Amino acid sequence: MKLEKEFIMIKPDAVQRGLIGLILTRIQRSGLKLLAMKFLQVSQQQAEKHYEVHKERPFYPGLVKFITSGPVVAIAVEGLNAVEVTRKLVGATNPKDATPGTIRGDFALDIGRNLIHASDSVDNALTELSIYFNEQEYVSWSPVENSWLYE
Ligand code: RTP
Ligand code: MG
Repeated sequence: MKLEKEFIMIKPDAVQRGLIGLILTRIQRSGLKLLAMKFLQVSQQQAEKHYEVHKERPFYPGLVKFITSGPVVAIAVEGLNAVEVTRKLVGATNPKDATPGTIRGDFALDIGRNLIHASDSVDNALTELSIYFNEQEYVSWSPVENSWLYE
């Protein structure tokens, strides 16, 4: 079975709105295994690396300003099809297009305040994880539910 790693960030708007617990509940309930997690303020350097692909886009300055504007929660998870599963839990980039039942569909309105980030590919997840975590911060453990989650 091919397990994937995924990088998730609970953005400053979700932290300020008291939605950390609710979002973590949805992530955990899916069965994805928590590998690492921290509460931090994103530095300018981390933000620029993270959003490098959007550097030429008109929304880039606002995006970097927003992501560095307050604390966030950085999360590493692992599981079967983790990237696709997480992106489905998160919902479409613009909350108006996000399906009810998704995090953005249920709790956000504005594309610039869409609560959560999730890497869009296995490779980008590994790159983004390396921006926020070092090897020592990963915890090795075996959830007891594993035999009930996987065939
Ligand atoms: P994310 O990277 O945050 O998980 O979101 P995503 O893949 O769904 O969206 P992406 O295209 O990677 O865009 C990154 C973030 O930039 C903001 N954005 N604003 N004003 C705009 O047109 C616009 N487009 C994107 C969003 O906050 C998006 O999450
Ligand atoms: Mg993206």
